[in-house]
Amino acid sequence: MMRYAHIVGWGCYLPERTVTNAELSQLVDTSDEWIYQRTGIRSRHIAATNETTATLAFEAAARALKIADLHPSQVELIIVATSTPEYMFPSTACKVQDYLGAGRAGAFDLSAACSGFVYALQMATQSIATGSVRNAVVIGSETMSRVIDWQDRSTCVLFGDGAGAVVLKGSSIPGGVMATTLRSDGSGADLLSLPALYHNPVPISGAEFSSNGHHKNIIDMDGRQVYRFATNVIATSVMDVLKQAELTIDDIDLIIPHQANTRIIEAAAKKLKVPMEKFYLNVENNGNTSAASIPLALCDAVRDGRLRPDDNVVFVGFGGGLTWAASVVKWDVTPPPVSFGDQEWKRIRYMMARGRSRMRRWQRRVEAAIAHPSARRKDDID
Ligand code: COA
Repeated sequence: MMRYAHIVGWGCYLPERTVTNAELSQLVDTSDEWIYQRTGIRSRHIAATNETTATLAFEAAARALKIADLHPSQVELIIVATSTPEYMFPSTACKVQDYLGAGRAGAFDLSAACSGFVYALQMATQSIATGSVRNAVVIGSETMSRVIDWQDRSTCVLFGDGAGAVVLKGSSIPGGVMATTLRSDGSGADLLSLPALYHNPVPISGAEFSSNGHHKNIIDMDGRQVYRFATNVIATSVMDVLKQAELTIDDIDLIIPHQANTRIIEAAAKKLKVPMEKFYLNVENNGNTSAASIPLALCDAVRDGRLRPDDNVVFVGFGGGLTWAASVVKWDVTPPPVSFGDQEWKRIRYMMARGRSRMRRWQRRVEAAIAHPSARRKDDID
Protein backbone atom coordinates (compact mmCIF):
# COMPACT_ATOMS: atom_id res chain seq x y z
CA MET A 1 0.00 0.00 0.00
CA MET A 2 1.52 3.38 -1.08
CA ARG A 3 0.21 5.46 1.80
CA TYR A 4 2.74 8.26 1.78
CA ALA A 5 2.77 11.11 -0.75
CA HIS A 6 6.35 12.24 -1.33
CA ILE A 7 7.33 15.40 -3.23
CA VAL A 8 9.62 14.10 -5.97
CA GLY A 9 9.65 17.06 -8.36
CA TRP A 10 9.19 20.82 -8.33
CA GLY A 11 9.17 23.49 -10.99
CA CYS A 12 8.38 27.16 -11.45
CA TYR A 13 7.71 29.67 -14.13
CA LEU A 14 7.76 33.45 -13.93
CA PRO A 15 6.88 35.69 -16.88
CA GLU A 16 9.86 37.54 -18.28
CA ARG A 17 8.51 41.06 -17.80
CA THR A 18 9.07 42.64 -14.39
CA VAL A 19 7.42 45.81 -13.14
CA THR A 20 9.25 47.75 -10.45
CA ASN A 21 7.76 49.98 -7.78
CA ALA A 22 9.29 52.96 -9.60
CA GLU A 23 7.33 52.01 -12.74
CA LEU A 24 4.12 51.74 -10.70
CA SER A 25 4.72 55.19 -9.27
CA GLN A 26 4.28 56.51 -12.81
CA LEU A 27 0.86 54.87 -12.95
CA VAL A 28 -0.58 55.72 -9.51
CA ASP A 29 0.29 58.08 -6.64
CA THR A 30 2.76 55.84 -4.77
CA SER A 31 6.49 55.41 -4.20
CA ASP A 32 9.08 52.66 -3.91
CA GLU A 33 9.61 53.70 -0.28
CA TRP A 34 5.89 53.38 0.65
CA ILE A 35 5.47 50.00 -1.06
CA TYR A 36 8.69 48.48 0.27
CA GLN A 37 8.16 49.68 3.85
CA ARG A 38 4.56 48.42 4.04
CA THR A 39 4.92 45.20 2.05
CA GLY A 40 8.56 44.26 1.41
CA ILE A 41 7.83 44.18 -2.35
CA ARG A 42 10.24 45.75 -4.85
CA SER A 43 9.02 44.25 -8.12
CA ARG A 44 6.65 41.69 -9.61
CA HIS A 45 6.35 39.68 -12.85
CA ILE A 46 3.54 40.40 -15.30
CA ALA A 47 2.37 37.89 -17.91
CA ALA A 48 2.75 38.73 -21.61
CA THR A 49 -0.44 39.04 -23.67
CA ASN A 50 0.13 35.59 -25.20
CA GLU A 51 0.53 33.97 -21.76
CA THR A 52 -2.36 32.60 -19.72
CA THR A 53 -2.78 30.95 -16.32
CA ALA A 54 -2.71 27.62 -18.20
CA THR A 55 0.51 28.29 -20.14
CA LEU A 56 2.25 29.44 -16.95
CA ALA A 57 1.00 26.29 -15.18
CA PHE A 58 2.18 24.08 -18.04
CA GLU A 59 5.71 25.52 -17.91
CA ALA A 60 5.93 24.94 -14.15
CA ALA A 61 4.47 21.42 -14.40
CA ALA A 62 6.80 20.40 -17.25
CA ARG A 63 9.80 21.48 -15.16
CA ALA A 64 8.52 19.60 -12.10
CA LEU A 65 7.96 16.42 -14.15
CA LYS A 66 11.49 16.70 -15.51
CA ILE A 67 12.94 16.69 -12.00
CA ALA A 68 10.58 13.87 -10.97
CA ASP A 69 11.68 11.95 -14.08
CA LEU A 70 8.02 11.12 -14.74
CA HIS A 71 6.65 10.91 -18.25
CA PRO A 72 3.36 12.86 -18.74
CA SER A 73 1.65 9.64 -19.89
CA GLN A 74 2.22 8.26 -16.37
CA VAL A 75 0.53 11.20 -14.61
CA GLU A 76 -2.75 10.19 -12.95
CA LEU A 77 -4.04 13.45 -11.47
CA ILE A 78 -3.55 17.17 -12.19
CA ILE A 79 -4.89 19.80 -9.80
CA VAL A 80 -4.50 23.50 -10.54
CA ALA A 81 -5.14 25.87 -7.66
CA THR A 82 -6.07 29.23 -9.15
CA SER A 83 -8.32 32.26 -8.71
CA THR A 84 -7.59 33.53 -12.19
CA PRO A 85 -8.72 30.82 -14.62
CA GLU A 86 -9.31 31.88 -18.19
CA TYR A 87 -12.57 29.93 -18.19
CA MET A 88 -14.88 28.55 -15.52
CA PHE A 89 -14.82 25.53 -17.81
CA PRO A 90 -12.83 24.01 -19.35
CA SER A 91 -10.67 24.02 -16.24
CA THR A 92 -7.12 25.32 -16.37
CA ALA A 93 -6.08 21.80 -15.31
CA CYS A 94 -7.65 20.33 -18.48
CA LYS A 95 -5.66 22.76 -20.60
CA VAL A 96 -2.49 21.73 -18.76
CA GLN A 97 -3.39 18.05 -19.26
CA ASP A 98 -3.67 18.73 -22.99
CA TYR A 99 -0.43 20.75 -23.22
CA LEU A 100 1.46 18.03 -21.34
CA GLY A 101 -0.12 15.19 -23.30
CA ALA A 102 -1.02 13.52 -19.98
CA GLY A 103 -3.49 11.10 -21.58
CA ARG A 104 -4.32 9.12 -18.41
CA ALA A 105 -4.77 12.00 -15.97
CA GLY A 106 -7.88 13.28 -14.25
CA ALA A 107 -7.76 17.07 -14.05
CA PHE A 108 -9.61 19.76 -12.11
CA ASP A 109 -9.19 23.29 -10.72
CA LEU A 110 -9.40 24.14 -7.06
CA SER A 111 -10.55 27.50 -5.72
CA ALA A 112 -9.27 28.47 -2.29
CA ALA A 113 -7.57 31.79 -3.14
CA CYS A 114 -4.10 32.16 -1.62
CA SER A 115 -4.54 28.95 0.43
CA GLY A 116 -5.22 27.03 -2.80
CA PHE A 117 -1.85 25.32 -3.13
CA VAL A 118 -1.99 23.79 0.37
CA TYR A 119 -5.63 22.73 -0.18
CA ALA A 120 -4.67 21.12 -3.51
CA LEU A 121 -1.65 19.42 -1.95
CA GLN A 122 -3.97 17.84 0.61
CA MET A 123 -6.48 16.67 -2.03
CA ALA A 124 -3.65 15.00 -3.98
CA THR A 125 -2.11 13.53 -0.82
CA GLN A 126 -5.44 11.98 0.17
CA SER A 127 -5.96 10.57 -3.33
CA ILE A 128 -2.56 8.88 -3.07
CA ALA A 129 -3.14 7.72 0.54
CA THR A 130 -6.42 6.02 -0.38
CA GLY A 131 -4.80 4.31 -3.36
CA SER A 132 -7.01 5.99 -5.97
CA VAL A 133 -3.96 7.40 -7.78
CA ARG A 134 -0.24 6.65 -7.63
CA ASN A 135 0.98 10.15 -8.43
CA ALA A 136 -0.28 13.70 -8.92
CA VAL A 137 0.86 17.06 -10.24
CA VAL A 138 -0.20 19.93 -7.98
CA ILE A 139 0.09 23.42 -9.45
CA GLY A 140 -0.56 26.94 -8.20
CA SER A 141 -0.87 29.34 -11.13
CA GLU A 142 -2.11 32.92 -11.35
CA THR A 143 -2.38 35.89 -13.68
CA MET A 144 -3.33 38.37 -10.95
CA SER A 145 -2.40 41.28 -13.25
CA ARG A 146 -5.65 40.59 -15.16
CA VAL A 147 -7.93 41.04 -12.14
CA ILE A 148 -6.35 44.19 -10.75
CA ASP A 149 -7.63 47.73 -11.07
CA TRP A 150 -4.40 49.39 -12.18
CA GLN A 151 -5.77 52.74 -10.97
CA ASP A 152 -6.24 51.48 -7.38
CA ARG A 153 -2.96 52.06 -5.55
CA SER A 154 -4.07 50.11 -2.49
CA THR A 155 -4.18 46.80 -4.43
CA CYS A 156 -2.23 47.16 -7.69
CA VAL A 157 1.12 47.38 -5.88
CA LEU A 158 0.62 44.04 -4.13
CA PHE A 159 0.12 41.35 -6.75
CA GLY A 160 2.10 39.55 -9.46
CA ASP A 161 1.88 36.63 -11.92
CA GLY A 162 3.58 33.22 -11.89
CA ALA A 163 3.21 29.48 -11.42
CA GLY A 164 4.77 26.76 -9.30
CA ALA A 165 4.22 23.00 -9.31
CA VAL A 166 5.15 19.88 -7.40
CA VAL A 167 4.93 16.20 -8.36
CA LEU A 168 3.71 13.86 -5.63
CA LYS A 169 4.43 10.14 -5.79
CA GLY A 170 3.06 7.38 -3.59
CA SER A 171 5.46 5.29 -1.51
CA SER A 172 5.31 2.82 1.33
CA ILE A 173 8.25 4.61 2.94
CA PRO A 174 7.09 7.02 5.68
CA GLY A 175 7.63 10.70 4.82
CA GLY A 176 6.38 13.30 2.37
CA VAL A 177 3.22 15.19 3.32
CA MET A 178 2.80 14.15 6.98
CA ALA A 179 -0.07 16.31 8.24
CA THR A 180 -2.35 19.05 6.95
CA THR A 181 -4.99 21.31 8.46
CA LEU A 182 -7.55 23.11 6.29
CA ARG A 183 -9.72 25.88 7.73
CA SER A 184 -12.24 28.46 6.48
CA ASP A 185 -14.48 31.28 7.70
CA GLY A 186 -17.00 32.49 5.12
CA SER A 187 -18.19 35.26 7.42
CA GLY A 188 -15.10 37.18 6.26
CA ALA A 189 -15.84 36.63 2.56
CA ASP A 190 -16.27 40.36 1.89
CA LEU A 191 -12.81 41.25 3.23
CA LEU A 192 -11.05 39.94 0.14
CA SER A 193 -13.06 39.12 -2.96
CA LEU A 194 -12.98 38.74 -6.72
CA PRO A 195 -16.52 38.68 -8.15
CA ALA A 196 -17.33 36.39 -11.04
CA LEU A 197 -18.50 37.98 -14.29
CA TYR A 198 -22.09 36.78 -14.07
CA HIS A 199 -22.34 38.54 -10.72
CA ASN A 200 -21.34 41.87 -12.18
CA PRO A 201 -24.22 44.36 -11.95
CA VAL A 202 -22.25 46.94 -13.96
CA PRO A 203 -22.73 46.83 -17.76
CA ILE A 204 -19.62 45.55 -19.51
CA SER A 205 -17.40 48.33 -20.77
CA GLY A 206 -13.86 48.28 -22.17
CA ALA A 207 -12.42 48.35 -18.64
CA GLU A 208 -13.93 44.97 -17.81
CA PHE A 209 -11.91 43.22 -20.52
CA SER A 210 -8.60 41.68 -19.52
CA SER A 211 -5.68 41.81 -21.91
CA ASN A 212 -6.47 38.31 -23.22
CA GLY A 213 -9.94 39.44 -24.24
CA HIS A 214 -11.96 37.84 -21.45
CA HIS A 215 -14.28 39.66 -19.09
CA LYS A 216 -13.19 39.77 -15.50
CA ASN A 217 -13.97 41.75 -12.43
CA ILE A 218 -11.35 43.09 -10.10
CA ILE A 219 -10.04 42.36 -6.62
CA ASP A 220 -11.66 44.15 -3.69
CA MET A 221 -9.84 44.18 -0.36
CA ASP A 222 -10.05 45.60 3.13
CA GLY A 223 -6.28 45.76 3.65
CA ARG A 224 -6.25 46.43 7.40
CA GLN A 225 -8.70 43.66 8.28
CA VAL A 226 -6.94 41.17 6.01
CA TYR A 227 -3.65 42.12 7.67
CA ARG A 228 -5.10 41.39 11.13
CA PHE A 229 -6.63 38.09 9.98
CA ALA A 230 -3.39 36.93 8.33
CA THR A 231 -1.11 37.62 11.29
CA ASN A 232 -3.42 35.62 13.57
CA VAL A 233 -4.01 32.58 11.38
CA ILE A 234 -0.39 31.96 10.37
CA ALA A 235 0.58 31.32 13.99
CA THR A 236 -2.53 29.27 14.86
CA SER A 237 -2.39 27.08 11.75
CA VAL A 238 1.32 26.35 12.18
CA MET A 239 0.68 25.30 15.80
CA ASP A 240 -2.39 23.22 14.80
CA VAL A 241 -0.56 21.30 12.09
CA LEU A 242 2.47 20.68 14.31
CA LYS A 243 0.17 19.22 16.96
CA GLN A 244 -1.39 16.94 14.35
CA ALA A 245 2.06 15.80 13.17
CA GLU A 246 3.19 15.36 16.81
CA LEU A 247 6.10 17.74 16.26
CA THR A 248 7.22 20.95 17.95
CA ILE A 249 8.34 24.17 16.33
CA ASP A 250 11.95 23.15 17.14
CA ASP A 251 11.55 20.12 14.84
CA ILE A 252 10.83 22.46 11.91
CA ASP A 253 13.73 23.52 9.70
CA LEU A 254 11.91 25.93 7.42
CA ILE A 255 8.49 27.60 7.16
CA ILE A 256 7.38 28.60 3.67
CA PRO A 257 4.45 30.97 4.10
CA HIS A 258 2.17 32.43 1.46
CA GLN A 259 4.18 35.41 0.22
CA ALA A 260 1.75 38.27 0.78
CA ASN A 261 3.70 40.76 2.76
CA THR A 262 6.93 40.82 4.81
CA ARG A 263 5.28 42.72 7.68
CA ILE A 264 2.62 40.01 8.03
CA ILE A 265 5.33 37.34 8.31
CA GLU A 266 7.31 39.41 10.83
CA ALA A 267 4.22 39.73 13.02
CA ALA A 268 3.53 35.98 12.73
CA ALA A 269 7.15 35.14 13.60
CA LYS A 270 6.77 37.24 16.77
CA LYS A 271 3.57 35.40 17.71
CA LEU A 272 5.29 32.04 17.14
CA LYS A 273 8.41 33.26 18.99
CA VAL A 274 10.69 32.08 16.16
CA PRO A 275 13.40 34.07 14.36
CA MET A 276 12.63 35.42 10.90
CA GLU A 277 15.39 33.15 9.54
CA LYS A 278 13.03 30.22 10.00
CA PHE A 279 10.76 31.72 7.31
CA TYR A 280 11.62 31.69 3.63
CA LEU A 281 10.68 34.93 1.84
CA ASN A 282 10.89 35.92 -1.81
CA VAL A 283 7.99 38.41 -1.87
CA GLU A 284 10.51 41.16 -2.67
CA ASN A 285 10.89 39.97 -6.28
CA ASN A 286 7.52 38.33 -6.96
CA GLY A 287 4.86 40.25 -5.02
CA ASN A 288 1.77 38.29 -3.97
CA THR A 289 1.17 35.58 -6.58
CA SER A 290 -1.76 34.05 -4.63
CA ALA A 291 -1.93 30.25 -5.08
CA ALA A 292 1.42 30.24 -6.89
CA SER A 293 3.41 31.88 -4.12
CA ILE A 294 4.20 28.84 -1.93
CA PRO A 295 5.48 26.57 -4.73
CA LEU A 296 7.39 29.55 -6.21
CA ALA A 297 9.06 30.12 -2.84
CA LEU A 298 9.71 26.36 -2.53
CA CYS A 299 11.64 26.38 -5.83
CA ASP A 300 13.76 29.32 -4.68
CA ALA A 301 14.35 27.72 -1.26
CA VAL A 302 15.63 24.52 -2.92
CA ARG A 303 17.79 26.57 -5.29
CA ASP A 304 19.24 28.52 -2.34
CA GLY A 305 20.11 25.29 -0.49
CA ARG A 306 17.61 26.00 2.30
CA LEU A 307 16.16 22.46 2.16
CA ARG A 308 18.11 19.27 2.70
CA PRO A 309 16.99 15.64 2.84
CA ASP A 310 15.22 14.86 6.14
CA ASP A 311 14.35 18.51 6.81
CA ASN A 312 10.83 19.21 8.05
CA VAL A 313 9.18 22.07 6.20
CA VAL A 314 5.84 23.75 6.89
CA PHE A 315 3.77 25.34 4.11
CA VAL A 316 1.22 27.85 5.42
CA GLY A 317 -1.34 29.63 3.26
CA PHE A 318 -4.05 32.21 4.01
CA GLY A 319 -6.36 34.37 1.96
CA GLY A 320 -9.78 34.94 0.44
CA GLY A 321 -12.72 32.89 1.60
CA LEU A 322 -11.52 33.44 4.22
CA THR A 323 -9.34 30.34 4.08
CA TRP A 324 -6.16 29.22 5.74
CA ALA A 325 -4.22 25.96 5.69
CA ALA A 326 -0.91 24.40 6.69
CA SER A 327 1.04 21.25 5.81
CA VAL A 328 4.09 19.60 7.35
CA VAL A 329 6.27 17.91 4.76
CA LYS A 330 9.33 15.75 5.27
CA TRP A 331 11.70 16.81 2.51
CA ASP A 332 13.43 13.66 1.38
CA VAL A 333 14.76 14.16 -2.11
CA THR A 334 17.89 15.24 -3.89
CA PRO A 335 17.17 16.16 -7.51
CA PRO A 336 18.68 13.74 -10.05
CA PRO A 337 20.94 15.43 -12.63
CA VAL A 338 19.15 16.16 -15.92
CA SER A 339 21.33 16.13 -19.03
CA PHE A 340 20.90 18.68 -21.84
CA GLY A 341 19.94 15.92 -24.31
CA ASP A 342 17.29 14.73 -21.87
CA GLN A 343 15.80 18.23 -21.63
CA GLU A 344 15.64 18.63 -25.41
CA TRP A 345 14.03 15.23 -25.84
CA LYS A 346 11.36 16.17 -23.28
CA ARG A 347 10.68 19.48 -25.07
CA ILE A 348 10.17 17.53 -28.34
CA ARG A 349 7.78 15.15 -26.56
CA TYR A 350 5.61 18.11 -25.46
CA MET A 351 5.55 19.43 -29.01
CA MET A 352 4.47 15.99 -30.21
CA ALA A 353 1.74 15.89 -27.51
CA ARG A 354 0.38 19.22 -28.76
CA GLY A 355 0.47 17.92 -32.33
CA ARG A 356 -1.53 14.83 -31.30
CA SER A 357 -4.03 17.04 -29.46
CA ARG A 358 -4.52 19.21 -32.56
CA MET A 359 -5.04 16.09 -34.67
CA ARG A 360 -7.72 14.85 -32.24
CA ARG A 361 -9.48 18.24 -32.47
CA TRP A 362 -9.47 18.09 -36.27
CA GLN A 363 -10.65 14.49 -36.18
CA ARG A 364 -13.62 15.55 -34.01
CA ARG A 365 -14.48 18.36 -36.44
CA VAL A 366 -14.32 16.04 -39.45
CA GLU A 367 -16.48 13.43 -37.68
CA ALA A 368 -19.01 16.14 -36.74
CA ALA A 369 -19.06 17.51 -40.31
CA ILE A 370 -19.69 14.01 -41.73
CA ALA A 371 -22.41 13.25 -39.17
CA HIS A 372 -24.19 16.63 -39.57
CA PRO A 373 -23.11 18.12 -42.90
CA SER A 374 -25.58 21.05 -42.72
CA ALA A 375 -24.83 22.02 -39.06
CA ARG A 376 -22.90 25.25 -38.50
CA ARG A 377 -19.64 24.46 -36.73
CA LYS A 378 -18.71 26.48 -33.65
CA ASP A 379 -14.99 27.18 -33.49
CA ASP A 380 -13.03 25.32 -30.84
CA ILE A 381 -11.94 27.35 -27.87
CA ASP A 382 -8.18 27.68 -28.16
N1 COA B 1 1.04 54.21 -2.00
C1 COA B 1 0.92 55.28 -1.20
N2 COA B 1 -0.08 55.44 -0.32
C2 COA B 1 -0.99 54.45 -0.26
C3 COA B 1 -0.94 53.30 -1.06
C4 COA B 1 0.15 53.21 -1.97
N3 COA B 1 0.32 52.16 -2.78
N4 COA B 1 -1.97 52.50 -0.76
C5 COA B 1 -2.67 53.11 0.20
N5 COA B 1 -2.08 54.30 0.50
C6 COA B 1 -2.49 55.30 1.47
C7 COA B 1 -3.96 55.22 1.78
O1 COA B 1 -4.71 55.92 0.82
C8 COA B 1 -4.00 55.90 3.13
O2 COA B 1 -3.95 57.29 2.93
P1 COA B 1 -4.79 58.29 3.88
O3 COA B 1 -4.25 58.03 5.26
O4 COA B 1 -4.47 59.61 3.31
O5 COA B 1 -6.21 57.86 3.71
C9 COA B 1 -2.70 55.47 3.78
O6 COA B 1 -1.84 55.02 2.72
C10 COA B 1 -2.85 54.35 4.77
O7 COA B 1 -3.68 53.35 4.19
P2 COA B 1 -3.92 51.97 4.88
O8 COA B 1 -4.76 51.13 3.99
O9 COA B 1 -4.39 52.21 6.27
O10 COA B 1 -2.42 51.42 4.92
P3 COA B 1 -1.85 50.19 5.69
O11 COA B 1 -0.79 50.62 6.61
O12 COA B 1 -2.95 49.31 6.23
O13 COA B 1 -1.13 49.39 4.52
C11 COA B 1 -1.58 47.48 3.13
C12 COA B 1 -1.90 48.93 3.41
C13 COA B 1 -2.44 47.01 1.98
C14 COA B 1 -0.09 47.39 2.71
C15 COA B 1 -1.81 46.64 4.41
O14 COA B 1 -3.10 46.90 4.91
C16 COA B 1 -1.68 45.17 4.16
O15 COA B 1 -0.60 44.68 3.94
N6 COA B 1 -2.79 44.42 4.21
C17 COA B 1 -2.81 43.01 3.85
C18 COA B 1 -2.92 42.89 2.36
C19 COA B 1 -2.68 41.51 1.86
O16 COA B 1 -1.62 40.95 2.12
N7 COA B 1 -3.62 40.97 1.13
C20 COA B 1 -3.54 39.67 0.54
C21 COA B 1 -3.70 38.63 1.56
S1 COA B 1 -3.72 37.07 0.82
